[in-house]
Amino acid sequence: MNKKTNVAVIGVGRMGGYHVGIYSEMADVNLVAVVDPDSERGGALASRYKVSHCKDYREILDKVDAVTVAAPTSLHYQIAKDCLEAGVHCIVEKPICDNYAHAESLFDIAGRKNLTLHVGHVERFNGAVQELRKIVQNPIMIESRRMGPYDPRIKDAGVVLDLMIHDIDILLNLVASPVVDTHVMGTSIFSNREDVVQVQFQFENGCIASVLASRATQEKIRTMAITQEKEYIFLDFAHQDILIHRQASSQHELRQRELKYRQESVIERIFVHRDNPLKLELTHFLDCATNGAHRHISVENELMSLRVALGVLDTLKLARKNLSLA
Ligand SMILES: NC(=O)c1ccc[n+]([C@@H]2O[C@H](COP(=O)([O-])OP(=O)(O)OC[C@H]3O[C@@H](n4cnc5c(N)ncnc54)[C@H](O)[C@@H]3O)[C@@H](O)[C@H]2O)c1
Repeated sequence: MNKKTNVAVIGVGRMGGYHVGIYSEMADVNLVAVVDPDSERGGALASRYKVSHCKDYREILDKVDAVTVAAPTSLHYQIAKDCLEAGVHCIVEKPICDNYAHAESLFDIAGRKNLTLHVGHVERFNGAVQELRKIVQNPIMIESRRMGPYDPRIKDAGVVLDLMIHDIDILLNLVASPVVDTHVMGTSIFSNREDVVQVQFQFENGCIASVLASRATQEKIRTMAITQEKEYIFLDFAHQDILIHRQASSQHELRQRELKYRQESVIERIFVHRDNPLKLELTHFLDCATNGAHRHISVENELMSLRVALGVLDTLKLARKNLSLA
């Protein structure tokens, strides 16, 4: 009989709560504990899933093989470092850290100790994104929009590390070419961090991308549109829906009293297999941790997404400083 993998979730707020739910349904997983200094949250989840609750993750390190780290981002580094040093595989919610050197050092520890360290970019496992990777070959232009209302719960990150990093990660994996130029504009509306940011990237292979992220918009929008030579591909993340427009033609028609414009194209709707992305993500993590499976996203690419996102923040800070000096 195969031994079950002992896991715990560290930080059981909104995201950690989802991880608990998924682990509790996995046949080869033994959910040992939920960890959260908030007794109310931790206690409620512990009694719902009939596991133990503790306030300090250091108490469970010798009882688990793998953990999810879903505490606030500013705590990821110390928690993941202690877990890895104790020989525990980790999946750390995105962004892995808010500091590049810290992220690099976590991957160094994992490499040295032969442990699996993944970053929780759940959007990678969205069925539509997986389909997109099969269709997108030589993108000329990519536009993404990720917008929604302000959530005062997120206190330790602005919109770049909270939302835009998802699209940066998808873009970098789709375009597979280094970013050579970046233009950034941003503003704060509800917090003292950036709430609305617009970025333009130029890639070495000539592709250009426009990425808009907002947490000040009274409608939840998550879309990506890709222009290729013969296709226009439109993805709606929320509905996991992909439309491909091809063979577009347009003409003006002169009728009796009016000039009409007509446009036609063939539109194909792609069937997207709708599995739970978080379940796929955690299954992949445990497969790598316990069966030595090959990771889908290389460590270099994990670090690249963070480096580009932090680069956007640096450019924004500089632009704001220059603006206040002007
Ligand atoms: N992948 C995604 O799509 C996605 C979505 C939302 C959030 N996140 C990430 O998940 C992380 C958590 O975000 P959230 O929205 O769930 O926040 P949250 O505030 O709802 O939850 C964080 C929890 O961590 C607990 N906590 C605080 N200090 C702790 C400690 N020392 N040890 C253990 N737990 C501790 C808090 O009490 C709280 O319950 C963030 O890094 C965020 O960026 C990822």
